[in-house]
Amino acid sequence: MGKMIEEGEVVFLDEGTRLQKKTYLEDQKGVPPSSVWADLEETGHNRNAKYELKKLFPDVQTSDLFKTPKPERFISKILRIASDKDSIILDSFAGSGTTGHAVLRQNAADGGNRKFILVEMEETIAAGITAERVRRVAGGYTDAKGKAVEGLGGGFQFCRLSAEPLFNEFGDIRDDVTFAELADFVWFAETGIGYSGTADSPMLGTHDGRAIYLLFNGILGDRRPQGGNILTKAILDSLPEHDGSKVIYAAATRLGSAALQRANIVFKQTPYAIEV
Ligand SMILES: C[S@@+](CC[C@H](N)C(=O)[O-])C[C@H]1O[C@@H](n2cnc3c(N)ncnc32)[C@H](O)[C@@H]1O
Repeated sequence: MGKMIEEGEVVFLDEGTRLQKKTYLEDQKGVPPSSVWADLEETGHNRNAKYELKKLFPDVQTSDLFKTPKPERFISKILRIASDKDSIILDSFAGSGTTGHAVLRQNAADGGNRKFILVEMEETIAAGITAERVRRVAGGYTDAKGKAVEGLGGGFQFCRLSAEPLFNEFGDIRDDVTFAELADFVWFAETGIGYSGTADSPMLGTHDGRAIYLLFNGILGDRRPQGGNILTKAILDSLPEHDGSKVIYAAATRLGSAALQRANIVFKQTPYAIEV
């Protein structure tokens, strides 16, 4: 700072309450975006947005389509200004999924690897419009004239939030959490993808060669408190077999580390080890 003041790069104004730093045109990366966006060719407009949506959903009655979509070009312009190729873009009011569409378009245009998180609280919109739009845009679809429109590439995971949190204020699993609800969470924590299994067995499934098990809530038919939720030798012998590494979530284990290692098991204690 001292050097900048000495060289006149930072100047104190006469009244002594403000200072100015010189900036040079050649150092600027571009001009700041205007605060009025009046070029409709560049940003699109709401009527465009409805038309874009209609093109993507020729099979849906116009009256049943999402009523207030934003134009994709408008969101694309925001992405060009405010994101880089590795950004994660969150739209917590996703509606018709314009933001996901714009992210895929921008990635296709500049080879970026942006990711998006879209949140939509209306179940029918989330599944029927938000996710379906992004699915069509990413994977391709057939337009109203029966012509195949190529996808932009990319993909997504569709996840549902549980109605209530799984954990109470002390970090314990709430008493009314079901096996299926915890199975969803454990699976996501282990694999990073949504659970598509049936959650009717302590072995939830396999992922990348590892089997993932959950002992919780009487899944083994033992309805005593904690019954069947503790990994013992007998319980291990009763679990569906997997010839390879196993991750077992349970309230506690009676097996020591040597026994766990011999059986190729990584033990994770609930609820503490359940984290995303
Ligand atoms: C104005 S629309 C968004 C339009 C969107 N930008 C588009 O281009 O389609 C707002 C959406 O946010 C959803 N929404 C409202 N409150 C929400 C909340 N608390 N969490 C998640 N979604 C919400 C509404 O159901 C509605 O679909």
